[in-house]
Amino acid sequence: MATPVEIEAMRRALDLARVPGPLPGPNPRVGCVLLTPEGAVIAEGYHRGAGSPHAEAEALAQAGVRARGATAVVTLEPCDHTGRTPPCSHALLEAGIARVVYAQADPHPVAAGGAARLARAGVDVEGGVFADEARDMNEAWTFAVTRGRPMITWKTAASLDGRVAASDGSSRWITGEPARTLVHSLRAEVGAIIVGTGTVVTDDPHLTARTPDGRLAAQQPVRVVVGTRDLPPGRRVTDDAAPTLHLQTRDPRDVVAALQELEVRHALLEGGPTLAAAFLSAGLIDRVEWYVAPLLLGAGATAIGDFGVGTLANGVRLSEVRVDQVGEDARIRGVVDSAN
Ligand SMILES: NC(=O)c1ccc[n+]([C@@H]2O[C@H](COP(=O)([O-])OP(=O)(O)OC[C@H]3O[C@@H](n4cnc5c(N)ncnc54)[C@H](OP(=O)(O)O)[C@@H]3O)[C@@H](O)[C@H]2O)c1
Repeated sequence: MATPVEIEAMRRALDLARVPGPLPGPNPRVGCVLLTPEGAVIAEGYHRGAGSPHAEAEALAQAGVRARGATAVVTLEPCDHTGRTPPCSHALLEAGIARVVYAQADPHPVAAGGAARLARAGVDVEGGVFADEARDMNEAWTFAVTRGRPMITWKTAASLDGRVAASDGSSRWITGEPARTLVHSLRAEVGAIIVGTGTVVTDDPHLTARTPDGRLAAQQPVRVVVGTRDLPPGRRVTDDAAPTLHLQTRDPRDVVAALQELEVRHALLEGGPTLAAAFLSAGLIDRVEWYVAPLLLGAGATAIGDFGVGTLANGVRLSEVRVDQVGEDARIRGVVDSAN
């Protein structure tokens, strides 16, 4: 059983892991607190993105010899493999850590096994303390390493009658500024934004993540354009504000494979109704983030094209639904259970 001091330390480790702003690269957020056997805090650490030290390594480096006999409280099971940095299980053993309390078991098929190695070496190990909180914090990463592909969130902005553009093609802006600001912060958190060539031809979007004052965010997702047509010259997506990948295919599985290759954990599907229908039919939409504006258009493109639902019972229903108001718009978020 984790002691009250260890539980408090886990809360602190979760706060450390949730460092504000996007985490660069494909890794999860992780926080770590080292305690003396009496429960005093020796050192703290958190992971700052791929290539930088893991949370445990950062805390151990601060603690030095004081780590001997200490308890490590960490939000993710210590890794057991050599990736861009050495395995944390070894580092904890070498430092003489006596007890490890962790939250989420490592779902990564390659990195898992740290808890077992530590236990075999005589370390007192306890897992599952605030496991749900830790898993929620790394929802997309957990999805991606478990399923072997990125999590895909379909984001759209529609009028009250489900239109994403008016009949003349105009679509800027359907939602208000607060909703657009939220979308820009979501873009800065994901590894890729996906649209179809139709959206690039019609709207010429920039598809960058910007701060509320209009500057480019420090971290930009890869812009992925899907479709067989060549892009007209001079489109904004081809500027140097962010990398762009034009995949001349109509198969969503090709897109997912390319993103997996790039170690993208979370991708935002922002493309029009045709691409949304293709991804949903392929079972490749996992989350929906839908903004509804208090606006009626009566005509114009609907948010999603026909994806073969003939009867109500075959419709795709969301679960774990959350609804909130963002400025004058409503945001509806949910999980698509039928995804592949
Ligand atoms: N309000 C919003 O949130 C929002 C967001 C995005 C777009 N829009 C609106 O949506 C409209 C554009 O709609 P759209 O449907 O043309 O955009 P789209 O879905 O982004 O692009 C459609 C194109 O994607 C390609 N494609 C890729 N995979 C496909 C597949 N499996 N099946 C068929 N085509 C595939 C095709 O291009 P190729 O012919 O090159 O293969 C197709 O013409 C615009 O009016 C835009 O303003 C609104």
